[in-house]
Amino acid sequence: MSNLHVLDHPLLQHKLAMLRDKHTGVKEFREVVTEMATLMCYEATRDLALEEVEIETPLAPAKVKQLAGKKLAVVPILRAGLGMVDGIQNLIPSVKIGHLGLYRDPETLEPVEYYCKMPRDIAEREAILLDPMLATGGSASAAIDVLKGYGCKRVKLMCILAAPEGIERVQKDHPDVDIYTTAVDECLNDHGYILPGLGDAGDRIFGTK
Ligand code: PRP
Ligand code: URA
Repeated sequence: MSNLHVLDHPLLQHKLAMLRDKHTGVKEFREVVTEMATLMCYEATRDLALEEVEIETPLAPAKVKQLAGKKLAVVPILRAGLGMVDGIQNLIPSVKIGHLGLYRDPETLEPVEYYCKMPRDIAEREAILLDPMLATGGSASAAIDVLKGYGCKRVKLMCILAAPEGIERVQKDHPDVDIYTTAVDECLNDHGYILPGLGDAGDRIFGTK
């Protein structure tokens, strides 16, 4: 399917290797997640619509391009998605931010929603969902359902690492959603963790265990 974008930029691959390393501590892990979110955002926004406007440079009138319309919102899936927000704001300081709280039940691996607060005009914006991990795809698929329920017509999913199972699930449930990731790993283990993966992203970002 053409909606999967595996971002193989050397800087992203180098930083992903740092995240995978079990010796990378909380501070560095968080910083690298932020940096990767900035680089991924650059790629995931390359099709944003532009409009031509006239301005004056100090020397002459000029026709220039600027972003058109209502632009963007980003929606981190709590908790781990929060780690990617600063990286987006580094590039798009005025981006609107929705928050969606989902956790994965450790037994059933089904997502459980516990919080939701969206920008008032979310339906008029392109929404980029942020979550470092796409494992079974249950959380991402449920989150996209929520955004579509708010009227979002264009949704993208940005996840640092993906499992084949998660990609398949999102492509089946939401074939219209573009997925941006930096690697597709081998498989899931019996507890739904990505292998070889990078461990529990939320725990590594926030230092919980
Ligand atoms: C992790 C991760 C995703 C989800 C991925 O969150 O950040 O949201 O699991 O798994 P899935 O694709 O199988 O649904 P988790 O539920 O551990 O919550 P946390 O971010 O609060 O740690
Ligand atoms: N959530 C994580 O944080 N890591 C995984 O490998 C799978 C789900």
